[in-house]
Amino acid sequence: MTSLDERRSLCDLAETLAREAGDLALAGRKAGLSEVRTKSTATDMVTEFDHVCENVITNGLRNARPHDAIVGEEGASDQGTSGLTWYIDPIDGTTNFYFDLPNWAVSIGVVDDEGPLAGAVYVPALGEMFTGARGLGAYVNGEHISVRDNSLLTDALVCTGFSYAPERRLRQARRVANIVHKVRDVRRFGAAAIDLCFVACGRLDAYFEEFLHPWDLVAGGIIATEAGAVITNFSGGIMEPREVLASTPGVHKELVALLVEATAALGDAESDSLL
Ligand code: 2AM
Ligand code: CA
Repeated sequence: MTSLDERRSLCDLAETLAREAGDLALAGRKAGLSEVRTKSTATDMVTEFDHVCENVITNGLRNARPHDAIVGEEGASDQGTSGLTWYIDPIDGTTNFYFDLPNWAVSIGVVDDEGPLAGAVYVPALGEMFTGARGLGAYVNGEHISVRDNSLLTDALVCTGFSYAPERRLRQARRVANIVHKVRDVRRFGAAAIDLCFVACGRLDAYFEEFLHPWDLVAGGIIATEAGAVITNFSGGIMEPREVLASTPGVHKELVALLVEATAALGDAESDSLL
């Protein structure tokens, strides 16, 4: 069990390191990219700043919290003994970062055996620091945030994301085609952690995406939860990186029904061989 004070200090640490890494990446991005490589597909990229930022963050965590475990998207992997694990996405929204679009973030979250404890999502190009910790609420730049008050599906602004694998993207687009006319409109911003924070602060009513990873979700997840969002899988069960639906409570049930129906209408099963 962690105390409120401990959770506040974990959140402060996440914020400090996210700001340090994010400011460094922003300055570097302005100076230009020199090294870009690809990972799972030709459009799944990693830049020199993903590695630099992950190093800054892991060094900071190892100094401040030497007994915690660490998992980073770019390979950081420390075994811990404290029962706490940090999940780091040094640059979430790498495609946006590459194209110099503002929606990319540093995402740092920490979990215990009960789930997400605290996290920070820093969006340097927007000058926004989202933070949250269990039982302590959610904030942007220190101001309290909460989800949009809406219970009308037709009024809901819904965000989604697409996978890097083209076959998966096609199937996801077909699912969106079964949804887009039943809600206010659909958005795709390209950074899962920010999408969750946008649900948290009421800029979106809902966000859903498949095939994510814990580092995409831990920080944004606790921020959205603390802001009043409901987070499940597409069928309303327990959320997993495989399927995430986060929404303001008033439209959640109807969105689950819509996602189930829109997925069934695809008429084919997702194949694990796609990626
Ligand atoms: P990344 O930018 O760190 O790769 C895009 O829809 C969002 O989903 C981004 O947050 C992206 O993170 C994340 N993501 C994680 N796994 C993905 C995948 N297999 N394909 C596309 N996006 C993925
Ligand atoms: Ca990333």
